[in-house]
Amino acid sequence: MTSGGALTSVSTQRDGSQTWYPVKLYQLSKAGKLCVPAMNVNDSVTKQKFDNLYCCRESILDGLKRTTDVMFGGKQVVVCGYGEVGKGCCAALKALGSVVCITEIDPICALQGCMDGFRVVKLSEVVRHVDVIITCTGNKNVVTREQLDRMKNGCIVCNMGHSNTEIDVASMRTPELTWERVRSQVDHVIWPDGKRVILLAEGRLLNLSCSTVPTFVLSITATTQALALIELYNAPESRYKQDVYLLPKKMDEYVASLHLATFDAHLTELSDEQAKYLGLNKNGPFKPNYYRYYWSARLEMQFNSSSFPPLA
Ligand SMILES: NC(=O)c1ccc[n+]([C@@H]2O[C@H](COP(=O)([O-])OP(=O)(O)OC[C@H]3O[C@@H](n4cnc5c(N)ncnc54)[C@H](O)[C@@H]3O)[C@@H](O)[C@H]2O)c1
Repeated sequence: MTSGGALTSVSTQRDGSQTWYPVKLYQLSKAGKLCVPAMNVNDSVTKQKFDNLYCCRESILDGLKRTTDVMFGGKQVVVCGYGEVGKGCCAALKALGSVVCITEIDPICALQGCMDGFRVVKLSEVVRHVDVIITCTGNKNVVTREQLDRMKNGCIVCNMGHSNTEIDVASMRTPELTWERVRSQVDHVIWPDGKRVILLAEGRLLNLSCSTVPTFVLSITATTQALALIELYNAPESRYKQDVYLLPKKMDEYVASLHLATFDAHLTELSDEQAKYLGLNKNGPFKPNYYRYYWSARLEMQFNSSSFPPLA
């Protein structure tokens, strides 16, 4: 089971390197190096849409505020990667009045960004002018030394994506750059001309290092993980081979249903006639496996702004 991948290297025997992210599990499975069945919890709807999106939407601001005390209204922000984590970060910063741009490699996510009202740019095009850069890609070296050299004085750089790979922090440990620890988890990296780049959490995950993470979201993720373990443990041997599996949809729905009571949310039950019409079992699953549960930052922001009273 993995939701971020810390256990992956344990399950591979022949691969001693630190591996991460479910994509690695799929690579190992394809290469025949996976020694046990694995459950990819990261891509369960109840993990991805809540931990990655809603959790990061809240904890990005907490992490930025606690470390910098900066006002983010009007600040130029670039969010690298418009996946689930990126969408959460963008929504939070846009709601604060930041001017948010995104970078993407995937045309579909880039187009989603356009529809949600964000400019899609290359980091190298804007890096000279921006105030804040946040990485959310799961990739490596998304922010390079060459780009760090071109940033303006006071630019804040942080990572919300994977581990410590996204910002090339090692490239800043050179003799001409001075590091000054200004408070816990905040370093000023000083160039010979006096320019300072503000690096948060030394490029590790900002929210896990510098903020709290909402326990409600952790409860959803932990429930998903626990159910995945129970399923792997209880399943007959023939059900799962040395491969990577997604949690059955019905369990995802069960995790969500367990958390509805917190909001006093009341589900509507299908009538027999409606269930037959839709071709569904009345007890679920309610969606096919390919259903995407899209979330639109734009719709949400329209909703939020329409809830403000009109000006007299
Ligand atoms: N900070 C947290 O609390 C937290 C929570 C959940 C997940 N994560 C981590 O965040 C990372 C992203 O998760 P996600 O669910 O958003 O994944 P995702 O796959 O939905 O999104 C990542 C996006 O980055 C894009 N991308 C990849 N390389 C890029 C590059 N060089 N430049 C620009 N865009 C690029 C991809 O096309 C993709 O759209 C993962 O490593 C995940 O483990 C962090």
